[in-house]
Amino acid sequence: MDATTVLLERFRDDFAAGRDFHYGIFTRDEREVLGGTGLHPRIGPDAIEIGYWLRETATRRGYASEAVARLTRVALEELGVSRVEIRCDPRNTASAAVPRRLGYRHVTTLEANALTPAGEPRDTMVWAQTAAELVGPRRE
Ligand SMILES: CC(C)(COP(=O)(O)OP(=O)(O)OC[C@H]1O[C@@H](n2cnc3c(N)ncnc32)[C@H](O)[C@@H]1OP(=O)(O)O)[C@@H](O)C(=O)NCCC(=O)NCCS
Repeated sequence: MDATTVLLERFRDDFAAGRDFHYGIFTRDEREVLGGTGLHPRIGPDAIEIGYWLRETATRRGYASEAVARLTRVALEELGVSRVEIRCDPRNTASAAVPRRLGYRHVTTLEANALTPAGEPRDTMVWAQTAAELVGPRRE
């Protein structure tokens, strides 16, 4: 079995078991993958982390911001967690622009708490939004 199939089966099993929730971002006709996003319950009780990526050709059209805005509401209004977090490398300016654009609060920057793929220490920016901080009209 190829690595992509193994990965997708893991995503499917994690979703079904309620462990981790990966979503694809597709073109409207669902024939092409533009990127992915997810709700990751790995930051303690009553909070959830959102992750996201886009393929190079799908950037700068607002897709990541739109997907993250929607998942933020799913987490805070439908799952009912108290806090959503986004974590990113401060040098990843495109990534940090997503929570900033959506009105997330920059809580802190953790120093040298993670490693780059090359094994170098790197900082982590922590962004958060609570239900009270949600911008825009609430869904009934
Ligand atoms: C992080 C990442 C998803 C950001 O992609 P992005 O294209 O900058 O984000 P969006 O899809 O929200 O697009 C925002 C851009 O589209 C523009 N845009 C156009 N229409 C828009 C709309 N309707 N709504 C919002 N933005 C819109 C924005 O002005 C912004 O442009 P700018 O870059 O000139 O400021 C992308 O860089 C990526 O996949 N990086 C690699 C993986 C990664 O780092 N993931 C995050 C790990 S923490």
